[in-house]
Amino acid sequence: MYKKACEIIKASSRCIAFTGAGISVESGIPPFRGEGGLWNKYDPSTFDIQFFNNHTKESWAAIKTIFYDLFGKVKPNKAHFVLAEMERMGIIKAIITQNVDNLHYDAGSKIVHEFHGNLKKIVCLKCKRLVRIDDIDLDKTIPLCSKCKGILKPDVIFFGEPIPENPSKYSFEEAKVADCFILIGTTGEVAPANMIPRIAKENKAKIIEINPVKSLYTDSITDVFINEKATIAMTKLLKFIQNSN
Ligand code: APR
Repeated sequence: MYKKACEIIKASSRCIAFTGAGISVESGIPPFRGEGGLWNKYDPSTFDIQFFNNHTKESWAAIKTIFYDLFGKVKPNKAHFVLAEMERMGIIKAIITQNVDNLHYDAGSKIVHEFHGNLKKIVCLKCKRLVRIDDIDLDKTIPLCSKCKGILKPDVIFFGEPIPENPSKYSFEEAKVADCFILIGTTGEVAPANMIPRIAKENKAKIIEINPVKSLYTDSITDVFINEKATIAMTKLLKFIQNSN
């Protein structure tokens, strides 16, 4: 399967990586679903925009526990670094990620479409100012904007919120033109992100999937299924590509 995946990637003219929570699991960030999933422990409705607006204090408390207490300390893993190397080698043209952990940028990737936003950025709901996470006091029960005292919210997409305009535009454009998608660590359960690989398939893209567990894509659109953890699979895939030169 690595040989077939390598042949598809080398024959492609526009290869895109599409990543989900699974690529960050080996950095110590739990996935949302499956083994050790966050939604087994926490109620996803805490991350619904209505809940945030009506129960801001509780929502912020959960956000800090689940995300900020952890995310500040995690580092990119080998899979993130391999994707950054593949971008430098011109093998992949961009990453579309559902993740909000900034780890693709931390690993050195340059073109990353963050479909669900980025936890490192905080937005003021009143004056719309963007604030860096390092510039606010997370010990406050509800962090407030230093300029207008408006309520601050992580610049990530809560359930019930629209996808940011540019990441959405670029991602759906890629789905129309790319001839190869490498799916890494995603269940394919959450719309509208989960449509992107399917639109790519409809546009004749070859789909390579890396996941230790089958996803909603595996038996429907996946051409090559690498049933493996991201760090192992990406390391092996890069070696195959480098040795085939
Ligand atoms: N390597 C690769 N894949 C892995 C690994 C690993 N080491 N460990 C787990 N996985 C896979 C799981 O098998 C699963 O398919 O990662 C996937 C994680 O699934 P989800 O937690 O559902 O992540 P994702 O598909 O990105 O969720 C999409 O749901 O809650 C929302 O906004 C949130 O962006 C998230 C969206």
